[in-house]
Amino acid sequence: MIGVGGYSAATGSDAIQAGKFDLLAIGRPLIANPDYVAKLKSGEPLIDYSDEMLAQLI
Ligand SMILES: Cc1cc2nc3c(=O)[nH]c(=O)nc-3n(C[C@H](O)[C@H](O)[C@H](O)COP(=O)(O)O)c2cc1C
Repeated sequence: MIGVGGYSAATGSDAIQAGKFDLLAIGRPLIANPDYVAKLKSGEPLIDYSDEMLAQLI
């Protein structure tokens, strides 16, 4: 099962550890941070998602 909706890497990891689902899908945080994984690894702060960011994808 795949968990979605409002999870961070930390809360998603906790949910996987708790057996709530097997895989986590992260959406909006990745739109806001295309370098999401690199930021997690480096500890660099994440940029918060805003709806205006969608316009930049088109
Ligand atoms: C721009 C955008 C479009 C989306 N379109 C769909 C869609 O067509 N069908 C769907 O099931 N979920 C859609 N979603 C939801 C994502 O698949 C995903 O479940 C959700 O964004 C994950 O939660 P998160 O953004 O809080 O990480 C969309 C999300 C965004 C941000």
